[in-house]
Amino acid sequence: MENNISIEKSKTTKIQDVDFNNLSFGSVYTDHMLVCDYKNGAWETPKIIPYGNLSLDPASKIFHYGQSIFEGMKAYKDEAGKIFLFRPTDNHARLNKSAERLAMPSIPESHFMEGLETLLKLEKDWIPTTAGSSLYIRPFMFATGVGFHASPADAYKLIIACAPSGAYFSGKVKVLIEQTYSRAANGGVGYAKAGGNYAGQFYPTKLAAEKGYQQIIWTDDNTHEYIEEAGAMNVFVRINDTLMTAPTNDRILDGITRKSILKIAEDEGIQTEVRKIKVSELVDAANNGSLKEIFGAGTAAVISPLAGFGFDGKDYDLPELEAPFSARLKKRITDIQYNRAEDKFGWRH
Ligand code: COI
Repeated sequence: MENNISIEKSKTTKIQDVDFNNLSFGSVYTDHMLVCDYKNGAWETPKIIPYGNLSLDPASKIFHYGQSIFEGMKAYKDEAGKIFLFRPTDNHARLNKSAERLAMPSIPESHFMEGLETLLKLEKDWIPTTAGSSLYIRPFMFATGVGFHASPADAYKLIIACAPSGAYFSGKVKVLIEQTYSRAANGGVGYAKAGGNYAGQFYPTKLAAEKGYQQIIWTDDNTHEYIEEAGAMNVFVRINDTLMTAPTNDRILDGITRKSILKIAEDEGIQTEVRKIKVSELVDAANNGSLKEIFGAGTAAVISPLAGFGFDGKDYDLPELEAPFSARLKKRITDIQYNRAEDKFGWRH
């Protein structure tokens, strides 16, 4: 270890209070967290301390100008008790990409990876082995530097917290294709995992929920004619036997599950297309029966099949298939994540 991470162990544990057979998503936290401060132009040595409240100056710029970014990762335990991460250096790279866009400092890979590994070794008993569950890992960085001047802060905090978690969605999801609000615009921060990208979605999602939809599929801000992503996940569409997803751009998150699914689908011999997808194409395909599946893909969502979508005041149901691509692809990716299959692409860590 280069970083000599210090560990202050918690005197108590909450683990006995957790029902590992009934885990919700991201609502109970492990005993420890990793904290790393950026001050005077440099990152300090990361430290692991008991999970707990923070004390922040009310003038911290996070509260005023929203300099806050995060990542979503998972730790998996196999049958022999070995612990795995999935493509973690991609999360590190994306965190730094988000940091750059929000004028925040980049974090060295050694701080991130060694911090993560040390934390996970300490919290190994918290990694669930119940079917469909894992330890959700939330690295996040925010501005602690103070001032009401609207300029980047001079101090930041990186925290890695963990939550044993079950499925993000319970059951199939019904989505609304959004025609009024936008998630992101060209030249904006849509591709960054910035907290504000998610907050901006809450109001339109609340309006959609009032109509019975759990999520929104965002369309492009310019014409609202093309589907983009679903906010908590990227979106895949299957028309006949072709699987398609929108290309990444300024407005769409470069999802690690998304790119892994594309690779696995190609390996399965499934025809894939990364291209702009018109809403009218989905509606036509739903009407003529060639729209077979839509599913979300993300770290939290894994692969979440949709029950149907709403557009222009009309609902379109998706068919119940015997062997959907979503189930096949989910099995392939989770078998790699949980060390149940050969790691053909070198993704396990
Ligand atoms: C993830 O999939 O890990 C995310 O960060 C999405 C979030 C809305 C839960």
